[in-house]
Amino acid sequence: MTASSLHKAAPVTQAHISLTRFLIEEQRAGRVNAELRLLVEVVARACKRISIAVAKGALGGVLGEAGEGEASINVQGEAQKKLDVIANDVLLEANAWGGHLAGLASEEMDHSMPIPDVYPRGNYLLLFDPLDGSSNIDVNVSVGTIFSVLRCPEGVTTPADEDYLQPGTAQVAAGYCVYGPQTTLVLTVGHGTHAFTLDREVGSFILTTRGMRIPEETKEFAVNASNQRFWEAPMQRYVGDLLAGKDGPRGKDFNMRWIASMVADVHRILTRGGIFSYPLDSKCAAKGGKLRLMYEANPMSFLVEQAGGAASTGRARMLEVQPTGLHMRVPVFLGSKMEVAAAVAYHDAHDAASA
Ligand code: AHG
Ligand code: MN
Ligand code: MN
Repeated sequence: MTASSLHKAAPVTQAHISLTRFLIEEQRAGRVNAELRLLVEVVARACKRISIAVAKGALGGVLGEAGEGEASINVQGEAQKKLDVIANDVLLEANAWGGHLAGLASEEMDHSMPIPDVYPRGNYLLLFDPLDGSSNIDVNVSVGTIFSVLRCPEGVTTPADEDYLQPGTAQVAAGYCVYGPQTTLVLTVGHGTHAFTLDREVGSFILTTRGMRIPEETKEFAVNASNQRFWEAPMQRYVGDLLAGKDGPRGKDFNMRWIASMVADVHRILTRGGIFSYPLDSKCAAKGGKLRLMYEANPMSFLVEQAGGAASTGRARMLEVQPTGLHMRVPVFLGSKMEVAAAVAYHDAHDAASA
């Protein structure tokens, strides 16, 4: 290739930065090491396989429940879908042998799993929600995979559940892959949040948004409003004021969206702003909330903070919550910074008045 043809080729390669190239450049900049780069590549490859399985739908025989009766109830007490099991198996198989992990934990497994002795063990722990938004699979609405990466504690070679109980601030990487009209992987390694769209013809994830930014203010909120009567008083008041629109204390009209796949709702918020909430309600209060801290709230909160947004339980910064169990649940408020602050202020005011 001559110098001039190299020069001419440059804009084309510039326009198509694959995930592989992005990660190599991050490694050169000292932001990831080779082991973490491999880990992200392996997770991305697994997501491609899950994307293919999801897209086959009824033709692949992947829709519907995994089994009958008790056999398909997972640790969450929820009936597993076939695709929950398929996605979990794909992620387990892909991540077992590369030497980049010490162990894995999943929404679909009661306990974490150390990497089998036959393979070398690495320095990282991977947690995932293999398929988020399961209730949407059979109706052809977006679902996704969420993941979080922690360091295996120093000196631990066979990690147990308690080795995963690190606050979200300890995450070294997090991401999700949304299987929607496009398959999009959104990633942070602690230096911004970046989106990669799957080019199905090439089979690669291509960088499509570098440095996603969530607008600080918004006029859009996401909540399952059918739970309204079960909410706590501050949440009732907060949403009441949103619904009052221009004539209420907030002085502007709000729009509402609820997809019932956290990945899809969060992806919208990362793209155009908004607030996502799954608050405490009297149905889930005994469990602490609906969404799980370690593989739903924490990775999403890391991505959102890295995009200039905020994430809270309503009473504390999400990433500072000390986990007490692998499947611990928390209330969630995340998205546009000022709107999350507004939701938190309703909780503060309520708590101060009842103290
Ligand atoms: P999962 O399918 O992994 O169990 O998660 C579903 C979660 C989340 O994706 C979504 O925001 C929420 O559950 C929807 O809950 P409702 O059905 O109560 O609206
Ligand atoms: Mn989920
Ligand atoms: Mn799930």
